[in-house]
Amino acid sequence: MKISVAGTGYVGLVTGVCLAEYGHTVTCVDIDERKVALMESGISPIYEPRLQELMIKNKERLSFTTDYQGAYKEADVIFIGVGTPEKQDGSANLTHVYTVAEQIARSVEKDCVVVVKSTVPIGTNDKIEALIHSNLAHDVTVHVASNPEFLSQGSAVRDTLGASRIVIGVEDEEAGQVLQTVYKDFNAPIVVTNRKSAEMIKYASNDFLALKISFINEIANLCEIIGADIEDVAHGMGFDKRIGDQFLKAGIGYGGSCFPKDTKALHWLANFHDYELKTVKAAIDVNENQKLKLLKKSRKYYERLTGLNVAVLGLTFKPGTDDLREAPTLVNIPLMIEDGANVRAWDPVGIENFKKLHPEGITYCSSIEEALQEAGICFIFTEWQEIKELELDKYRTLMKHPIVLDGRNCYQLADAEKAGIVYDSIGRETISQTETSFV
Ligand code: UDX
Repeated sequence: MKISVAGTGYVGLVTGVCLAEYGHTVTCVDIDERKVALMESGISPIYEPRLQELMIKNKERLSFTTDYQGAYKEADVIFIGVGTPEKQDGSANLTHVYTVAEQIARSVEKDCVVVVKSTVPIGTNDKIEALIHSNLAHDVTVHVASNPEFLSQGSAVRDTLGASRIVIGVEDEEAGQVLQTVYKDFNAPIVVTNRKSAEMIKYASNDFLALKISFINEIANLCEIIGADIEDVAHGMGFDKRIGDQFLKAGIGYGGSCFPKDTKALHWLANFHDYELKTVKAAIDVNENQKLKLLKKSRKYYERLTGLNVAVLGLTFKPGTDDLREAPTLVNIPLMIEDGANVRAWDPVGIENFKKLHPEGITYCSSIEEALQEAGICFIFTEWQEIKELELDKYRTLMKHPIVLDGRNCYQLADAEKAGIVYDSIGRETISQTETSFV
């Protein structure tokens, strides 16, 4: 089967490479010539475990090109995996998807199935189908199918090769058959439904997970007030199979390319249809507040951060990726700088991307120790392994005042107490040594 994939971002490239791993011949299309040249030479433009290894392993079956006409004209299946960024009003920007749909319509010279992998608002597949049919340059039949992806950054290849489920949304049996053939070697349950339901499965899944995180974050906030421990609470809840033990990690809120965007998009869509999605709205609001939680905590120790060395550990929205999209640091660090703080930031892979957004005003450090030097306070934003494995004594020996605000609950309370540091985390008791106010 000849497969083409439009877009080589997280979704497109991972899809293309994993389909090749399962024996398909895949052409990946992108408009960025520099990126295409890079991928042709076997280099992945994004950091994702195993991706580059599989690109090299399957190079006989994988090609990269900017020539979309050549890639689409004789393809049996064309995946659309381009981005759908968030617009100012929270709705999804579909410009790239529609552009690709038009290019496909003008290029295809044989019957094919167009598969929409990008996360698109419910009903978009119908629009894509109409757009393709009205722009077809040849007398061919093009089916449109929805096939959302559920990969997480940092484990994208593993999530795709070992998918929890494959969702196929089709309006005709033929397209369903073709996709079942594409996925025949994937060892995953296949859910075949209509297109709108497939589109909804994607949004409902992501929004449910976002809701779960906001819920546990609210419970964590309440735990702090009443003196309960969120780690124990989540542990105790997780044994109930109906709840499950995943996505119950309290912290400073979710970021990334999906949850913030998909919650807002579904909320927007509901509003558009005069329906208020109250639970999703609550998840969004809780998350916005949660992102500022550590900064609010810092007021317990300092009235202002003016003139203070502030260590920031972790910049990315989660470990295992260099992606900064919707990372809590993007709102926190500018506020710290505005307050007059000398921000000293460390991250194992995120610094280059952060530098592009903030080339000045931040001291970027190549080690945790360097960031902690003479700091009056430390903020932990990402639970990188290096942070978890740090000897806690270092906070006391390197910092001017060992006050650690941990937005990811990286340490045991007993260890923090033993290390003699002030340790203020999420949803747990604060470990205060004798010296707690440095105002
Ligand atoms: C997510 C979904 O998991 C994936 O299925 C979907 O296809 C895309 O969106 P991703 O954004 O890559 O994937 O990361 P994920 O690991 O889900 O984490 C998202 C955010 O939630 C991160 O900021 C993470 O720190 C936060 N999170 C996650 C929590 O705060 N607590 C948790 O228990 C889990």
